[in-house]
Amino acid sequence: LPCYLNGEWSNIRDAKVSVLDRGFIFGDGLYEVVPAYDGRPFRFNEHMARLERSLDELRIPNPMDRAGWRGLVDQLIAAYAKHVGKKAEETNQLVYLQVSRGVAMRDHAMPKDIEPTVFAMVNRLSIYPAEERAKGATCVTADDFRWKKAHIKSTSLAGAVLSRQISADVGATETIMFRDGFLSEASSSNVWVVKDGVVLGAPRDNLVLEGIRYGLLEQLCKNANIPFQLRRVSREEVLAADEILLSSATKEVLPCTVLDGKPVGNGRPGPIYEKLFAGYQQAKL
Ligand code: PDD
Repeated sequence: LPCYLNGEWSNIRDAKVSVLDRGFIFGDGLYEVVPAYDGRPFRFNEHMARLERSLDELRIPNPMDRAGWRGLVDQLIAAYAKHVGKKAEETNQLVYLQVSRGVAMRDHAMPKDIEPTVFAMVNRLSIYPAEERAKGATCVTADDFRWKKAHIKSTSLAGAVLSRQISADVGATETIMFRDGFLSEASSSNVWVVKDGVVLGAPRDNLVLEGIRYGLLEQLCKNANIPFQLRRVSREEVLAADEILLSSATKEVLPCTVLDGKPVGNGRPGPIYEKLFAGYQQAKL
């Protein structure tokens, strides 16, 4: 698979960074995961806006302007298409972009005047099998023990890894987390609760990563006349939900039908899910 590292293109197996890279030593960096359908990145500007916010929060200078990033993403898509012997427009891809603060002798404080490390790779975008969608995902709940800057798409992901493994250990798809009794998100997805026809989600604050699907689901709800509300959602409300949905670049919108071993609502993907999933497929065209 093709990849990009600091201006050089190579095979993913051959790309190497310094052991002093602060991404390796401290997880001092940020990333984006951008899906591309039929060779076109989906919601590219929204991903760029979030990348810029993460860079600002971490005080890492932006190594490229938006046109530069767009050029890189288009080159990755083309390189992948070539690799699999197809036209770009015949492929669905997942593009990964990462910026770390760069290489310096180990010191927690931010070193001055170092060059950020820019890394990008691409792979096939795997679509959830229809049978799994029809069944819905199994999830478990856990305390949100991550840090209080979850709004930064940081590569410091030990918290996410530990959280995700709680569900992986029992063969479940995601871990839905609560902070002080209120819903935050899942280890690598946002969580939506449907009650009496209303879609509820956690506020856009420092305790969740605002997925690109926040704005998208808000729009899809508006189009379908479904009330959409961001507010603190209690654990009790989540456990009493009619439907629970997960969203991310790879899950799109996915129903959670079993939570902590109990059915969510009637235990089947619900009508709001069906509407939002249909709207999502339209939005991709
Ligand atoms: N994860 N919350 C967390 C903690 C996430 O890591 C992600 C994305 C999301 C959903 O964001 P979006 O809708 O923009 O994909 C929410 C990506 C896909 C990952 O880490 O691979």
